[in-house]
Amino acid sequence: MTPLRSMGLRRALVIASLLSLLIAGGAWWIFSADRVDDEDLDVSTASARADPALVARGRYLAQAGHCAGCHTARGGASYAGGRPIATPFGTVHSSNLTPDAATGLGLWTANDFWRALHHGRSRDGRLLYPAFPYPNYSLVTRADADALFAYLRSLAPVAQPQRAHALRFPFDTQAALAVWRALYFDPQRFEPDAQRSAAWNRGAYLVRGLGHCSACHASRNALGAAADALALDGGTMPAPPWYAPSLASPHEAGLAGADAGEALRLLRSGVSAQASVSGPMAEVVRGSLQHLDEADLQAMVVYLQSLAPPPAARRPTASPALASAHGLDLYEKHCAACHGERGEGAPGVYPPLAGSRALLADPPANAVLAVLGGGFPPATAGNPRPYGMPPFATLLDDAEIATLLTTLRASFGNAGSAVSALEVGRYRGSAGP
Ligand code: HEC
Ligand code: HEC
Ligand code: HEC
Repeated sequence: MTPLRSMGLRRALVIASLLSLLIAGGAWWIFSADRVDDEDLDVSTASARADPALVARGRYLAQAGHCAGCHTARGGASYAGGRPIATPFGTVHSSNLTPDAATGLGLWTANDFWRALHHGRSRDGRLLYPAFPYPNYSLVTRADADALFAYLRSLAPVAQPQRAHALRFPFDTQAALAVWRALYFDPQRFEPDAQRSAAWNRGAYLVRGLGHCSACHASRNALGAAADALALDGGTMPAPPWYAPSLASPHEAGLAGADAGEALRLLRSGVSAQASVSGPMAEVVRGSLQHLDEADLQAMVVYLQSLAPPPAARRPTASPALASAHGLDLYEKHCAACHGERGEGAPGVYPPLAGSRALLADPPANAVLAVLGGGFPPATAGNPRPYGMPPFATLLDDAEIATLLTTLRASFGNAGSAVSALEVGRYRGSAGP
């Protein structure tokens, strides 16, 4: 993770340059930066739109991209937008992707749509916020973009006007976005690696592109940008602050050493013998991964298993002397019935806490959020009636949760660092009611 010192410096530098640009007429950037290359323009998709096979393909790709996850408001019509997305700079609201002429994509052409995905620009040229993960979708092929567009055109139009974004100055300006893009965004194409297998390349395309795994799993600087936009080195989400662990590190969620069948099962059903997905990852499995076909999931596993561990993989710090009798009492009373006397869990039902990477991760965000809020793995075809965990936010105070987690991180063969009551309080405060 970027050290705080340099984040502070970088933030100051970039805010200074943003302000000077605003004063000195940032409009130049907006109109000159990244124009659409002519080779992308192709106007022959109108007839293809009605093709049912293309629509079906687009539907599948929309699931692989989890478009509905962001473009559907709670209780709202699918794809009609309006869902608030938290960013470190405020809230943006997703757009209406249904073919309504006044409020959705009704007047869009396939070229407009491609430009949004590949270049991150709206139909009227407006620069789009990267809360829409176009740094990933930029890799989507033109053929796949056309299929997605055909699918969205096939939906029933829903009239739902765009909700205004609520971002802090200067992040609410196009000039700020233009600077951000000049620093951190280049439209990219997916270049297959001829040295690798077809499955690896398919997996890379899905993980880096449509699957936008790095949107959560990359570490970010103070401007919400990843050093490598497609990195999977582990990052903290804005609010609530779930930690999306590194998908390369053997100490976090790296799959390199995992049994390929168990890894596939985790992606498809949300549970495996060792782990159980929770929070935002449960949404990803429920809304996206469980719908992918076997070959695509296998390809993703092949790609994920090939990720080299980072040279300085953060290893949880060991301090096994911290287990306390009070912590073990709390465990007996509240947790052991499900997670087992020795933290062994019940494979596929209750995740084990002995050797659990979710419990041992640094920062301990996910373990704290799990205890505070409880949770369910997603209901999937592979695990239709998941067993859940009750919330303990009202039963245990910050000090008790800290004592309990510190004890568990140092018991059953685990060797993790202590969790403080202050930390628990911080997560409680940002987890919402
Ligand atoms: C992580 C959340 C997220 C996901 C996933 C997501 N979007 Fe979006 N999308 C947004 C947000 C937020 C905006 C609004 C950005 C803005 O207004 O600057 C947006 C804007 C768009 C726009 C531009 C609309 C306009 O009126 O300018 C298009 C097109 C779009 N998304 C298509 C898609 C497609 C297709 C997918 C799936 C492949 C998808 N989105 C997945 C969050 C998301
Ligand atoms: C919306 C944010 C988000 C996106 C997108 C996302 N993840 Fe995650 N992921 C998380 C969070 C948060 C966790 C930690 C919670 C957990 O362990 O389930 C996580 C955990 C994981 C784990 C470890 C699960 C465990 O408990 O051992 C794997 C593996 C994983 N993600 C793979 C992926 C892959 C592959 C993609 C892309 C297809 C992806 N994630 C996309 C947020 C996300
Ligand atoms: C009724 C059964 C039950 C009880 C009681 C329970 N848990 Fe859980 N626990 C679960 C289930 C089911 C999950 C998986 C939830 C998910 O995927 O969102 C889980 C997940 C977790 C996780 C995340 C592990 C992972 O692999 O993602 C931690 C940490 C945890 N529990 C700790 C505790 C602690 C500490 C207590 C006692 C205060 C406790 N649990 C009580 C059933 C339970």
